[in-house]
Amino acid sequence: MLRKLALSSATAATLALSSGAALAAGAAGHVEDYAFSFEGPFGTFDQIQLQRGLQVYTQVCAACHGLRYVPIRTLSDEGGPGFTEEEVRAYIEQNFIEVYDPELQDWRAATPNDNFPANDAAGAPDLSLMTKARAGFSGPYGLGLNPLFRGMGGPEYVASLLTHYTGSEREEFGSVLYGNETFPGGYISMAPPLWEGAVEYGDGTEATEEQMALDVAAFLTWAAEPKLMARKQMGFTAVLLLGVLSVLLYLTNKRLWAPVKARAKGAQPAE
Ligand code: HEC
Repeated sequence: MLRKLALSSATAATLALSSGAALAAGAAGHVEDYAFSFEGPFGTFDQIQLQRGLQVYTQVCAACHGLRYVPIRTLSDEGGPGFTEEEVRAYIEQNFIEVYDPELQDWRAATPNDNFPANDAAGAPDLSLMTKARAGFSGPYGLGLNPLFRGMGGPEYVASLLTHYTGSEREEFGSVLYGNETFPGGYISMAPPLWEGAVEYGDGTEATEEQMALDVAAFLTWAAEPKLMARKQMGFTAVLLLGVLSVLLYLTNKRLWAPVKARAKGAQPAE
């Protein structure tokens, strides 16, 4: 009876695991395992890369996409692109960032306390949480171990999506679809948004397609999880404290039981 129960529950667990992984695996196509600076337990955002990513987002992606859940002032938060408050204001001015004000019922210049504008015009999804909403890695074959070692692959998915256009096009119901190896189904309605030199970086980095894709994916990861570095630091401190606590508890335990053990030892020969 017990053996049967154990067997059937093991089978059920395997089935649940593999079906979940199979669903996820069917979702995305080819996802390149790019190395990002913020990976691993001690990974941190590369401030200069976030600034480049913001530039790509602003000059290319913002034409169709919004970032409606991200407050503009967070550009000067610790762990982010590291702007000063003046630089945030200058960014708004230089890029004519405007937001729709429901009270004025009109557009007005954004202030640092506004969020980045939403953009529904092109039917493109909001990018605020995109790197969290997509998973690049799953499997292998039902064990679900890949995400443990390589992460969920949200940033890798975005970077791959931008660099894996096949060049083929297809028309469906009057709209053009573009061949893409990463996008589920193989065809996406977003035209290839990046091309060599689409932006000009101020820090001398060459604006190759892959470089811009990696930079904007890093920026979008920060946008979706601005407290990533603080979270990792907190986790590290917690593990360290728990380690010290374990040692103390072990020593306390030994000390508490020492008299009892000594008594037991002393009592043995009498038995
Ligand atoms: C010309 C308009 C346009 C531009 C510019 C553009 N996109 Fe898109 N994007 C779209 C549309 C439309 C979709 C919806 C595609 C679909 O679902 O078929 C989309 C979808 C996406 C998706 C979601 C794919 C998914 O898995 O559902 C991501 C990620 C994305 N874009 C990132 C970017 C980034 C990053 C940039 C800037 C480098 C960018 N886009 C520039 C129009 C655009």
